[in-house]
Amino acid sequence: MLTKTKIYLSSPHMGGNEQKYVNDAFETNWIAPLGPNVNGFEDDIKSYLGFNNEVAVLSSGTASIHLALELIGVSKGDEVLCQSFTFSASANPIMYLGATPVFIDSEKDTWNMSPELLEIAIKDRIEKNKKPKAIVAVHLYGMPYKANEINAIAKKYDIAVVEDSAEALGSTYHDKACGTLSDFGILSFNGNKIITTSGGGALITKTKVLKDKAVFLSTQARDDAPHYQHSHVGYNYRMSNVLAGIGRGQMEVLDDRVAARRANYEFYKKHLSGFNTIEFVDEPAGSYSNRWITCIKTDSFETREKIRLTLLEDDIESRPLWKPMHTQPVFKDCLHFSDGTSEDLFEKGLCLPSGSNLTNDDLNRILEIINNTPPNL
Ligand SMILES: Cc1ncc(COP(=O)(O)O)c(C=O)c1O
Repeated sequence: MLTKTKIYLSSPHMGGNEQKYVNDAFETNWIAPLGPNVNGFEDDIKSYLGFNNEVAVLSSGTASIHLALELIGVSKGDEVLCQSFTFSASANPIMYLGATPVFIDSEKDTWNMSPELLEIAIKDRIEKNKKPKAIVAVHLYGMPYKANEINAIAKKYDIAVVEDSAEALGSTYHDKACGTLSDFGILSFNGNKIITTSGGGALITKTKVLKDKAVFLSTQARDDAPHYQHSHVGYNYRMSNVLAGIGRGQMEVLDDRVAARRANYEFYKKHLSGFNTIEFVDEPAGSYSNRWITCIKTDSFETREKIRLTLLEDDIESRPLWKPMHTQPVFKDCLHFSDGTSEDLFEKGLCLPSGSNLTNDDLNRILEIINNTPPNL
């Protein structure tokens, strides 16, 4: 009997040359952290992003957000404005620093941080003598947020922005790479991302001085001395030379990965937009999404669950959209400025399988199931 293989939401997809870079690390005994692959991977990312950015590769996207906030000077008692519709890793580093997140809901065009609610929140917090120290905005599922509007507000009130581009490597906004649009950008190379090092991340800064500070903090903050001397609390956050080797191979195929994910989106949109119960989110003018994950919004929780559970019966993984942070138990005491947009998305939205390694057969299998999911489609 033929057994059907499991289809994952988003699985790693090696290009072929990763092994070569990893072997180089073994053959030259650069197994310890740091080494030529680390520098090479940083240079590869830098030339991909353009516009004079500096890149420090780190152990994760979460670590990168943590260091960005620390470099901004976020500390105990501060408030940080954070997109509510996101993965918890956007907000957790705020807590690591003893600061408090204040969550901002999404707008409907991109599903990302609402500039209107952001400004309402800033005014409110300033009025209460709690001027926020930073903003964490997220290009969720690869779709660029309204960076012109968010940056203008941030500039008006002189608040630094951390651009969580964990899901958006390969996306652009008015021809600039996501990750480079604000004071600090971060990337993730976690296993489910558009390219992966199995685990890893990067911090993007505007100056070499800031990059050097990040590297210093990420390598246990050792002062310049022959013995171990420390004047700061440090972290063990640097990416290893072995994992950076995987990253080098993955950078060679990044454009192909973006093309494949965008083709998935086009396939789903072409075949499913006939259903008046399924909506897609289009790219606003000037935005180019890597379409990391193809998301749909259905007309109800019941329709969403019907599709999800029917796919699951056939061993196909799909998943509800991110549960907003302001509804998470861990953040229940945090302030939020919300209008129901992200709660509605969570209730009705679904992430469809979106890996760059999906075959035509996989896509047709998924489509057939959705087409046959009765009744209210
Ligand atoms: C939006 C977002 N921010 C941050 C992260 C954290 O990245 P990492 O898993 O590399 O720590 C992720 C992914 O995991 C993410 O999806």
